[in-house]
Amino acid sequence: MKDETESAAFEQKNSRRPFTKGSLLPFDYQSTTPCSQEVLNEMLPYWNEFWGNPSSRQNRSGIQAAAAVTLSREKLATCLDVAPERLIFTSGATEANNLALLGHARAKAIKHGSPGHLITLATEHHAVLDPLRQLKREGFRLTELRPGHDGILSRNQLVDAFERDTFLVSMMFANNEIGVIQPLKEMSELCRDRGISFHSDVVQGFGYLPFKPDELGLDFVSLSGHKLYGPKGVGALLFRPELPILPLQWGGGQEQGLRAGTIPVPLVVGFAKAAEIAIRELHVQQERFCLLRNTLWEGLRQEIPDLMLNGAMNPRLTHNLNFTVPGVRGSNLHRQLRPYLNCSSGSACSNGEPSHVLSSIGRSFSEAEASLRLSLGRDTTESEVKQAIDLISTVVDQLRSK
Ligand SMILES: Cc1ncc(COP(=O)(O)O)c(C=O)c1O
Repeated sequence: MKDETESAAFEQKNSRRPFTKGSLLPFDYQSTTPCSQEVLNEMLPYWNEFWGNPSSRQNRSGIQAAAAVTLSREKLATCLDVAPERLIFTSGATEANNLALLGHARAKAIKHGSPGHLITLATEHHAVLDPLRQLKREGFRLTELRPGHDGILSRNQLVDAFERDTFLVSMMFANNEIGVIQPLKEMSELCRDRGISFHSDVVQGFGYLPFKPDELGLDFVSLSGHKLYGPKGVGALLFRPELPILPLQWGGGQEQGLRAGTIPVPLVVGFAKAAEIAIRELHVQQERFCLLRNTLWEGLRQEIPDLMLNGAMNPRLTHNLNFTVPGVRGSNLHRQLRPYLNCSSGSACSNGEPSHVLSSIGRSFSEAEASLRLSLGRDTTESEVKQAIDLISTVVDQLRSK
């Protein structure tokens, strides 16, 4: 109610441009993307026409379903340039992260008779931080490294963190909040030299950046379907058969015994198709994103020159922007924007805490609160970018003149 009264007052006071409520400007494509029509078409027959269980290989419909899963695994493997046997399907990247981290760490601890040391970044997604913190509760030691203000970890930081019994490093490809890209190849080489396994959550980079896990020296890779115009509820883990993993669940022995449970055929088919399209269109989209994102950033800075960019501009995902608006209260900024703009706040985290990513790169509590992540999608238009510039600068003007 308070929100509505305030935004009505805002619309009345706003002399520069009447923004309309209801048609939200979509700038939150890093949280999820809509399923593309091509993906929907590909999935459709597997909901009702070919509805067999891929584990039922003794009947025809089961064989059809199994063939669709095999083909999807091959498609995804081709996108990654890896052998299909190294891929298992999961319910998403959260599960893939849990399986890689908990599964590998527990298997290693059994082999060595004691838990060892793990390293990650304080700026990782909670789907990595939380399983690692669970391992800490189980007796493993965990180092969470804070990158510099640019959000990028340095080689020396990682080298200095290694301990005698470090056996696993987890480092994301592109950050989900600030979009910065970690130098994975350089970091994985440091690990390989020491026999340390290297896991990467590549959810935000896969389909948006050229990506070949073997060229980057990655041992475990977590992927998700819904960030690249595929369905929600499906992802995959890429692993190396020589590195042990204990499963997290037991049942029908699907996915090489690593992920028991009936495979959701339509989702797997959709995920593979979405990945194929994303790779096919990657360069064209990257160029488009780059132009639009630069227009957005330059336009905003022209109107609000003291905006503070969060994280390095380079290397960064071309569809991401994250900045702090100095001199305004985060809660007011978000309240005023919410009726007109879909974006993510720096404080999109649970419990009303400000973003752990922004805090880790040195932003204060109030700076982190007054931050916006704007992310572009395939459908973003120049007109939407211009409207976003107009809207944000109008709101900031208003808040500053109060
Ligand atoms: C970096 C990163 N990792 C993991 C996840 C979780 O992925 P999923 O929704 O497939 O479990 C997300 C999605 O928000 C993400 O951005």
